[in-house]
Amino acid sequence: PLPEAFKVPLPIPPVKKPIRTAAGVDYYRVVQRQADLEILPGLKTPVLGYDGLLPGPTFDVRSGRTTVIEQVNQLAVPTVVHLHGGHTPASSDGWPLDLLMPNGEHHEHAGHHNMPGGDVKTGSRTYTYPNTQRAATLWYHDHRMDYTAPQVYRGLFGLHLIRDAEEDALQLPGGDREIPLVIADRAFAADGSFLYPALKDGPGVEPEYMEGVIGDVILVNGAPWPVLEVDTALYRFRILNASNARRYELALSNGPATFVQIGSDGGLLGAPIEHQTLVIAPAERFDVVLDFSQYQPGTELTLLNKLDGGRAGQVMRFKVTRKVTDDSFVPEKLSSYAPLPEPGGLVHRTWRFRRGDANGHEGWTINGKPFDPEVMQAQVKLDQYEVWSFATDVHHPVHVHLAPFQVLRRGGSKPGPYDAGWKDTVDVRPAEVVDVLIKFSSHKGKYLIHCHNLEHEDMAMMAGFETI
Ligand code: C2O
Ligand code: CU
Repeated sequence: PLPEAFKVPLPIPPVKKPIRTAAGVDYYRVVQRQADLEILPGLKTPVLGYDGLLPGPTFDVRSGRTTVIEQVNQLAVPTVVHLHGGHTPASSDGWPLDLLMPNGEHHEHAGHHNMPGGDVKTGSRTYTYPNTQRAATLWYHDHRMDYTAPQVYRGLFGLHLIRDAEEDALQLPGGDREIPLVIADRAFAADGSFLYPALKDGPGVEPEYMEGVIGDVILVNGAPWPVLEVDTALYRFRILNASNARRYELALSNGPATFVQIGSDGGLLGAPIEHQTLVIAPAERFDVVLDFSQYQPGTELTLLNKLDGGRAGQVMRFKVTRKVTDDSFVPEKLSSYAPLPEPGGLVHRTWRFRRGDANGHEGWTINGKPFDPEVMQAQVKLDQYEVWSFATDVHHPVHVHLAPFQVLRRGGSKPGPYDAGWKDTVDVRPAEVVDVLIKFSSHKGKYLIHCHNLEHEDMAMMAGFETI
């Protein structure tokens, strides 16, 4: 039986405290461990959590200050940490074979490097994030080869917020009125444990989950269909779709409030955009402001998901409770962001996302190839704009590591309503081509492009490229 909706208060993931700070660097330590959390009332759910939490703790850092995180693996499985949206050196980017083995475990493949290209460590590993990028809502999550989907499903994900002076100068809602909404669907067994249709004897999911794993319980910040009491004021919500495969079309049950989008994956837009509904694919972020000052205390608004009926058609509820005065506002100009022109003569690459043979079984491919960590599908020069085209068969949220991009065209014509700003994940719809303008800088090495439907990713819809 599903829990009653809108009873549990919305939890806010705790902000992680550094263990030490030095000039320009903050040091942190995270323990990846199993924990039994009460997600559904009265039941215990075993999770794999950063610090035993789901979602993990939030990193709240400054642009240009380096974040150094020692990750300690006390789980029973190897892990890999990736900072999604990070401008990160390859050695800390979470290459899927750069495994962090659990302490004290002597896996046969941990010792001798029969997994090609992997930099394997045991017990703990240090990741360095220079944060040399503008303010944005990033997130971190597991990226272990073949097992990203089940490990993220079990809890290995959290937020990494970068702030900067450009954003600080605005009078956007802040403090208790700047709230992350990490949306993730999950399925539960009767005993409270997560239900994940993994194959028994190796990576991948049962054939009927080729399209991805969808759960019937909607969690926001780890709580099922929570409720948030709000003042008659503006609120800033950083929305992340952390679901493995589910897309949402978010809407409010009653007006007049609309979603005022102020930012996307890569930080603030140039100017706000108003939406009646928000379509959000896995891994995308939308930074929005809602104006509750238009309501009387006592008003309830439900955040709906128009792509589904029934319980999956509801996400959470806002309860307007307190009348206040509020001096925050959304300015007409948010940041120096501007769409770039598309010069002629750029290198053009096409990436075709299609179903296909993945090493002898049904899977997903890019340009006809399943992921092979030894094959780099492209060599990309630093500091040069390129046009990349993403072509699909069915829906695929396409994600590129290291650099954000701007959407130039969708289906040959102008970008869609949700494509504004710097993006690192774009929701490519069935049989569509999306063209983006992208430029890599600073870091040479091996990086990834992949589908962020995590079951597709695990079923080989990923490709390496090398920046040179
Ligand atoms: Cu959010 Cu390569 O991933
Ligand atoms: Cu896909």
